[in-house]
Amino acid sequence: MTEPVFEVEDLHVTFPTDDGLVTAVRGVSYRLRPGEVLGIVGESGSGKSVTSLAVMGLLPATARVTGSARYRGRELLGASDSELSSIRGKNVAMIFQDPMTSLNPVYSVGYQIAEAVRAHNDVSKQAAMSRAIELLDTVRIPNAAERAASYPHELSGGMRQRVVIAIAMANDPDVIIADEPTTALDVTVQAQIMQALETAKTATGAAMVLITHDLGVIAGQADRVMVMYAGKLVEAGSAEDVFYTPRMPYTLGLLGSLPRLDQKSKQLTPIVGAPPSLINMPPGCPFTPRCPLAQPVCDEIEPPLAATTSLDHLAACHFSSELVEAKPDDVFNTEVADTKALAEFVRQTEGGP
Ligand SMILES: Nc1ncnc2c1ncn2[C@@H]1O[C@H](COP(=O)(O)OP(=O)(O)OP(=O)(O)O)[C@@H](O)[C@H]1O
Ligand SMILES: [Mg+2]
Repeated sequence: MTEPVFEVEDLHVTFPTDDGLVTAVRGVSYRLRPGEVLGIVGESGSGKSVTSLAVMGLLPATARVTGSARYRGRELLGASDSELSSIRGKNVAMIFQDPMTSLNPVYSVGYQIAEAVRAHNDVSKQAAMSRAIELLDTVRIPNAAERAASYPHELSGGMRQRVVIAIAMANDPDVIIADEPTTALDVTVQAQIMQALETAKTATGAAMVLITHDLGVIAGQADRVMVMYAGKLVEAGSAEDVFYTPRMPYTLGLLGSLPRLDQKSKQLTPIVGAPPSLINMPPGCPFTPRCPLAQPVCDEIEPPLAATTSLDHLAACHFSSELVEAKPDDVFNTEVADTKALAEFVRQTEGGP
């Protein structure tokens, strides 16, 4: 097996606040192999961004981070600023949700891409600008040479995000971390940005971490998927495992709230309720209050992330073995879950494989 380019092990992040300790990330681990696409999904506040910011050394100084994050074996947690900035942008590039936060409003986009090239390469300004134009062309900005002179505010949101992707590509990184890269954009532009990311991946050969709250965005893109809830991984496996045989009710819930083009007029089944507060979390599974399958044990013991029938497919649910054939509708019936039907479902499947 090839060595991972990026490896995160038992990452914990807490923030001391006036209200108490926020446990934002609780024991996240993953490995990213060369060229692999890992999707990280979860609702707002589940810890997706903090996980990525922590490994890149981009959290505020108040954050307490423990665990390990290695780029090709080099430890990033606790590394010096200069060491981190030699890796950031060169080996590991990040793309954020709002392109305006990544772009400087007072410089032309061509200049900003050229500067990204020059930050890690000893090339002339002219050569860097030619490369910038080439990159703009690669991410399909029409009339790239002309557009290079534009300022961020002169471009549409979709074009700005392409510019950010071009910057991410500038130094042929091995890893690109894209945090909700399409969330601020409308559906048509979303598809174009996903295409631009695909181009970036092919052109650089980079492995990619694709963070999203929308499972639909990563369908067909991710090789592996991790589902986060309340700072923890609750399911992880190949895209096929997670999309077709999910073993955690929360994942089923996320799938049930996805619009499906292949099913006529199917009602969506949203997950009722909101994620828990991350301050003074009670024991037990944090999904319990929203879980139609919850039993008394769920309030007491938080289930570990454990192998299901396959060693590569992990789930954190006391009842994951009962979810072998479950479909979102079986678990999340209608807007208000029909608890009777669900109890029946659990009874019927009890003792299953
Ligand atoms: N600087 C901070 N101080 C205190 N709490 C923080 C800080 N940064 C993040 N958090 C908390 O950590 C938790 C995880 O936040 P994070 O931004 O990782 O969520 P997310 O999964 O990326 O959500 P979204 O989909 O909204 O981007 C949240 O509860 C958030 O309020
Ligand atoms: Mg986020």
